[in-house]
Amino acid sequence: MAHVVLKDLVKTYGSFKAVNDVSLTVNDGEFVALVGPSGCGKTTTLNLVAGLIPITSGDIVIGDRVVNDLDPKDRDIAMVFQNYALYPQKSVYKNLAFPLQMRKLPRDEIDKKVKEAARVLDMTHLLERKPRELSGGQQQRVALGRALVRDPAVFLMDEPLSNLDAKLRVQMRSEIKRFHQDLKATIIYVTHDQLEAVTMADKMAVMNGGYLQQYDSPAQVFAHPVNMFVASFIGSPAMSLIPLQASTANGNSVLTGAEGWSFELSPRNAQKVANATTKKVVLGARHSTIKLHNSAVPGAIPAKAYTVEPTGDVTFVQAFLSGAIVNVSVPPNIAVAPDEQIWLEFDQERMHLFDGETEMALKAN
Ligand SMILES: Nc1ncnc2c1ncn2[C@@H]1O[C@H](COP(=O)(O)OP(=O)(O)O)[C@@H](O)[C@H]1O
Ligand SMILES: [Mg+2]
Repeated sequence: MAHVVLKDLVKTYGSFKAVNDVSLTVNDGEFVALVGPSGCGKTTTLNLVAGLIPITSGDIVIGDRVVNDLDPKDRDIAMVFQNYALYPQKSVYKNLAFPLQMRKLPRDEIDKKVKEAARVLDMTHLLERKPRELSGGQQQRVALGRALVRDPAVFLMDEPLSNLDAKLRVQMRSEIKRFHQDLKATIIYVTHDQLEAVTMADKMAVMNGGYLQQYDSPAQVFAHPVNMFVASFIGSPAMSLIPLQASTANGNSVLTGAEGWSFELSPRNAQKVANATTKKVVLGARHSTIKLHNSAVPGAIPAKAYTVEPTGDVTFVQAFLSGAIVNVSVPPNIAVAPDEQIWLEFDQERMHLFDGETEMALKAN
């Protein structure tokens, strides 16, 4: 296995920058997810690493080599795509053996590698079947196996689970994670699904508009999103982002909502707000950090329940506050009905504050 370094990577199509100065290091054996909305440049970045498209500028290092000008076949990578592209007429065994035959490996070595891959992926019993005799999940496993037999320095995967139904996707998610743990493989995994990234990856690279927004462990990204984009993209339901106005009352720093309510900031949050470039401050709160009350409580803000969505384990309540939708989760036994008056209490320790102009997370000194 090997590490991968992207340095100031750029890909332009005419005047359009699909990938904008992306720099990151994937350590040896690490599982990194490139995650972001459709069109943000994930596939382009992966294809640059694979060598399927030429880079405009920057460097790509795989292991100890700069691979900028190397053909895909010389980069020591294996790709797994969304559509598995198996040979329909060939058995699973032959699908796995084919890339090795192309590389002119001796027959007994091919046999050994195919059987080992089948063992690792628990599909020894499927080796004689044709792709059409396999379920979607099994076909995807064969596609993984075909990458595995090549024993590459790096696995590149582009939305490999997108074609599977929801249940199978969750199951294959665990299998790929297991695959990574067992092989200690270096994997770069593209997905638009933030939950896949959060659950599978050691680190995630959150992209938007061709730019790398944040590169860190899922826990760090979740707890400390660097800006409003990352804050709203990672986590489900999305973090509520409520535009407020900062001011000072009797020497204390307060935030005021469009409806006229306000609350006094803790010293640490006041410090953050003092560092903003503007009086416009956006309060970010995850559903689990907001308390819902059925009656007025000091510090809680009056609102009206808009929708109430029971999911079994928790009920999600949506309300409008200061022109924004606020998502709150409550235990299923709490009775709330749409249009009912509620009071929302924000946790100052766990709230996020963003600069209303730059959209960057505000920092305390
Ligand atoms: N060959 C191409 N010519 C022009 N624009 C392209 C080409 N390939 C991709 N793009 C554009 O680059 C952006 C990033 O595409 P892509 O990397 O496929 O996004 P993602 O995989 O994140 O959905 C998109 O706006 C896409 O339309
Ligand atoms: Mg893509």
